[in-house]
Amino acid sequence: TVVVIDFGSQYTQLIVRRIREIGYYAELLSWDVSKEEVVELNPAAIIFSGGPASVFEEGAPYIQDYFFELNVPILGICYGLQSIIQKFGGKVEKSSKREFGRTFLEIIKKDPIFDGIPKKSEVWMSHSDRVEELPENFYVIAQSENSPYAVVRNVEGNIYGVQFHPEVTHSQYGRKLLSNFIEKVVGIEKNWRMEDFLEKKIREIRETVGENKVILGLSGGVDSSVLAILLNKAIGNNLIPIFVDTGLLRLNEKSEVVENFEDLGIDLVIVDAQEKFFEVLKGVEAPEEKRKIIGHTFIEIFNETAKKLLEKHGDIKFLAQGTLYPDVIESKVCGSKSAAKIKTHHNVGGLPEKLPFKVIEPFRNLFKDEVRQIGKILNIPEKIINRHPFPGPGLAVRIIGEVTKESVEKLRKADYIFIEELRKENLYDKVWQAFSVLLPIKTVGVMGDYRSYENVIALRAVNSEDGMTADWAKLPSEFLNQVAKRIINEVSGINRVVYDITSKPPATIEWE
Ligand code: XMP
Repeated sequence: TVVVIDFGSQYTQLIVRRIREIGYYAELLSWDVSKEEVVELNPAAIIFSGGPASVFEEGAPYIQDYFFELNVPILGICYGLQSIIQKFGGKVEKSSKREFGRTFLEIIKKDPIFDGIPKKSEVWMSHSDRVEELPENFYVIAQSENSPYAVVRNVEGNIYGVQFHPEVTHSQYGRKLLSNFIEKVVGIEKNWRMEDFLEKKIREIRETVGENKVILGLSGGVDSSVLAILLNKAIGNNLIPIFVDTGLLRLNEKSEVVENFEDLGIDLVIVDAQEKFFEVLKGVEAPEEKRKIIGHTFIEIFNETAKKLLEKHGDIKFLAQGTLYPDVIESKVCGSKSAAKIKTHHNVGGLPEKLPFKVIEPFRNLFKDEVRQIGKILNIPEKIINRHPFPGPGLAVRIIGEVTKESVEKLRKADYIFIEELRKENLYDKVWQAFSVLLPIKTVGVMGDYRSYENVIALRAVNSEDGMTADWAKLPSEFLNQVAKRIINEVSGINRVVYDITSKPPATIEWE
């Protein structure tokens, strides 16, 4: 395992993803992790991440001594580099010239870590402290305009440090540097292939589950769909997927999910809970309250269904959940321990464990793009794998103010038109997520010869890598014009369409 130690940088998860993309298994641990936990992973190399602190601040995270006793190659990135330098007696200081964003790296000494990297290349920097003096036995191998010690190593060649962020795509040869570190410096065999992971998981699931049954909350989204199909492959009809119709789904969504799974030969238990959701949402306007009510109601309905199924088939022993690696590390690493709560997320996969079932989470160690890869290996149709993300609370968080049957109807129609046009113009796969939002305010318009006074639809389309940050999509104006025209003509009660041009941050992707 390549062990990545987290000092709280926003790019920490990217380091793990890059190492896995190169073909090596990597895991993320907090900087204060115990030696036993690290040793248990049989580490082949340690990478120290960047972080927001300054090494000389009181209470700043630091490198524990035992890491250097493990006798494996070490790479420090940004704060990781600075911590190594400080540890060995070098000097780190606040720099008068900060470096944020693109800059040039110049290699000044040939080194295995630079194999195949040109003398000058673009890298991404984000730091205000810098190394001012190297410890004994360290020397510099690359520099940048404001970092005389941009890449350093020790004489033995088993400790490296880089001031820039090789894990971000803006660093031109960053991936190459990481793969050189693993292949040339660490020198281990590739050990991470999704095909092998999949085979191993299927065997594990069969062993764990035996002849018992497994239930699963299916939303129709990528994670729960791939999970259902994987489980079906592993245990056939002993999987019982439950699909709850909350009444907050997109137009035709239920029938599409049912059809998709029928085509795959998988039967679903469908629960119609529309009335219940509209009832509990009556009069509720505050976004957080909506999210909480929907989350609780969903769990209540799922539990009721599970109990009924248990009465019918006594041998349901497991509940499968589509928990992903980012959810797992969220509770473990320092970067997110202090993070402010922005929204209460409700996830169809995230049910509490009050039920009398054992939980199995086959995707616990995977990132979302790895789940998509599994989907591809399993030959799951593109229309399932490439679907845009859809939030657990559904259309409710896209209707500002109270959610009623009428408002859902209106939003559904507008949203359908937007998505249909995106598909028609081959733009659906070019944006990461797109949807419509119904605003409760009314504005004046003129339709025919009459004054109109009706609601507004906002269109939202973004590009993103993981939903954590996002850029609004620069859709062609003729395209937006066409969508707006159709919405006004085809959805009664709407006389104005606006396009959301805020990125995340400062906005979030959903409006509530
Ligand atoms: P925000 O609005 O937080 O959204 O910028 C980031 C991504 O997460 C989706 N989202 C959710 N997904 N349950 C989910 O499963 C939720 O409660 C939820 N809220 C937002 C959102 O659609 C976007 O892709």
